[in-house]
Amino acid sequence: MQDFEFKTIIEPFRIKMVEPLSRLSLKEREEWLGRAHYNLFLIPAEAILIDLLTDSGTGAMSSKQWAGMIDGDESYAGARSFFAFEREVKGLTSHAFIFPTHQGRAAERILFTIIGKKGKYILNNNHFDTTRANIEYTGAEAVDLVIEEGKNPRSEHPFKGNMDLDKLKDFIKQKGVENIPMVLMTVTNNSGGGQPVSLENIKQVSKICRTHKIPFFLDACRFAENAYFIKKREPGQAHRTIKDIVCEVFSYTDGSLMSAKKDAMVNIGGWLTLNDPELAAHVKNLGILTEGFPTYGGLAGRDLEAIAQGLREVVEEDYLQYRIASMEYLGRHLVKHDIPILTPVGGHAVYLDAKAMLPHIPTHQFPGQALATELYRVGGLRSVEIGSFMFPQNAKMELVRLAIPRRVYTQSHIDYVGEVIVKVNEMKKQMRGFRIVEEPPFLRHFSAKLERV
Ligand code: F0G
Repeated sequence: MQDFEFKTIIEPFRIKMVEPLSRLSLKEREEWLGRAHYNLFLIPAEAILIDLLTDSGTGAMSSKQWAGMIDGDESYAGARSFFAFEREVKGLTSHAFIFPTHQGRAAERILFTIIGKKGKYILNNNHFDTTRANIEYTGAEAVDLVIEEGKNPRSEHPFKGNMDLDKLKDFIKQKGVENIPMVLMTVTNNSGGGQPVSLENIKQVSKICRTHKIPFFLDACRFAENAYFIKKREPGQAHRTIKDIVCEVFSYTDGSLMSAKKDAMVNIGGWLTLNDPELAAHVKNLGILTEGFPTYGGLAGRDLEAIAQGLREVVEEDYLQYRIASMEYLGRHLVKHDIPILTPVGGHAVYLDAKAMLPHIPTHQFPGQALATELYRVGGLRSVEIGSFMFPQNAKMELVRLAIPRRVYTQSHIDYVGEVIVKVNEMKKQMRGFRIVEEPPFLRHFSAKLERV
């Protein structure tokens, strides 16, 4: 029987536990900005009203995930919770070896310690900051090969995360297979605006890698959101289940790096999966040094249980429909008010185009940082600059990311966020840029201090 249809997409859950928000005065927020040297990472979370710094580890777990936490098996070796975790991860990736890690960058560090060194190149659509840093730390070079449309905030290409196949082939030819230990693909492409990669592109990259016998890994953090975009945007995919698409994507890969803090909907966790037995032996040995015995890898049994359940929930279409609709809802509101944003809106965040919004602030004075700090000053919002401040050498755009935590904020919170951005846009002429007064040798955005120009 045909069911009734309604146009409102509702949050597909109800709320069982609440956490109060604290609202500071304008004067208090200005004081915090000064004390934090205009670096939003240095402001305590209690001084933030709506925290859109990241969608990583900030989601709300479901009642079933919490039930799994209570039921977790905390045995040092061979815990039941490990096998529950392994079953779910294998069910999606089909990879032969599954190693839990305490988060995504732990998997990166282990993998790149083994395969990276001076003279080697790791290719990707766009490396995320920690991935790039972990590669560069070994002496290897991290190379970004996203398609040109992926660098243009205004391009309406449906898969702006795609890798440029010609650039990939040329690069392999130029530098030699022996100097390219791995090709990665980040889904969705976080540094490029949370943009999806098409199934076809993944298939083609895999084909090129297999021809040259170069391992092809997925940086899989937001694999479910990516699959939802494939279902909605790629011809011939609409009838498939999300899980089916996810499994096909992984089938083209030889391994994956994962931060479970994103699409496994937990507050901590990650994994490294792969097929190559020799590489797996290395990973196991290195993992024991820093992560722990391979059946817990830096996590408690309860965390593994929560990941297993999160993986079952994240591929539910109701959830993904609500998730992607929340981003689009905020994006539509901003476009209606002529606020320049990166379009199409990404899967986990809305990215403001600070360069277009603040043409009077040159990139070396960090227009993105100017905008992010103003959003905090005016409305208590925390966002993050993804531009010349985060990537001193490799910034493609000057963006401010408003990442939406999973299942945390309601529609009225998002309405408030929209109102704050519109207000800031009205006052943009008064905004000024920044200069850096102190910075660490890498990943400077986490701790650098700034002052107003
Ligand atoms: N890869 C991508 C694409 C990521 O987005 C992240 C984290 C990581 C790897 C590292 O994972 O944090 O568990 O160690 N991104 C977060 C963010 C921090 O805010 O986008 P991690």
